[in-house]
Amino acid sequence: MPSRFLYPRCLKFMLSCLLLVTALGQVAAYADDATYTTDLGVALSPSEVSPYEITIFPSGKNLPEGKGSVKQGEGLYQNHCMMCHGEEGDEGPAARLKGSDGWFSFSDPLRVLRIDKYPILLISVGSLWPYATSIFDYIRRAMPHYAPKSLSNDEVYALTAYILYLNDLLAKESVLNEETILDISMPGKQRSVSAWPEIEL
Ligand code: HEC
Repeated sequence: MPSRFLYPRCLKFMLSCLLLVTALGQVAAYADDATYTTDLGVALSPSEVSPYEITIFPSGKNLPEGKGSVKQGEGLYQNHCMMCHGEEGDEGPAARLKGSDGWFSFSDPLRVLRIDKYPILLISVGSLWPYATSIFDYIRRAMPHYAPKSLSNDEVYALTAYILYLNDLLAKESVLNEETILDISMPGKQRSVSAWPEIEL
């Protein structure tokens, strides 16, 4: 190869090596220095974090005090939820809240037949979700869709109770609170026990 091609190539290669070594040196220096910070932002105090720390765990951890009945939930549902989730909770257009065990998994060999039998009850909160506490968590943080976090804890308990009632998981005269919600046994959990191990939190 003529040298007029070789020299620039050599130079380029050496420059690349130099850059790489410098970069690696920087990374190693940061990794070594455990106290390295970006000096961006400010540390939040626990009181600033707590409004966002609202996750409710299957064990019941973080459940607020409160109570609500199926009956109260029915009224709330009609005012705040029905327009999107349907009169009975399974008409849509938004996600189905009332479910059947008509169909569960993509690997179900009888899926096509089951879809035929239950045309719209494909997946719902009632048939799929393994923990009633997750219904509370979801409604409180996300619903109604146009005004998330606008409901009181009592209202969320009532709406959770009503959805459980729609799914035949709670009697019509029941009241749900931070203790009774833990007694609810969801079919979604029984279906896939091995996939949902008990988590102690
Ligand atoms: C403006 C329409 C609208 C209203 C009103 C509304 N929702 Fe929803 N809801 C949705 C939509 C859209 C989704 C799906 C959101 C997504 O998957 O991101 C949803 C999802 C849900 C889910 C989870 C369903 C799933 O399988 O993932 C629950 C539970 C729920 N809503 C309950 C309620 C309750 C209770 C109310 C009344 C307080 C309510 N929604 C009001 C539109 C609405």
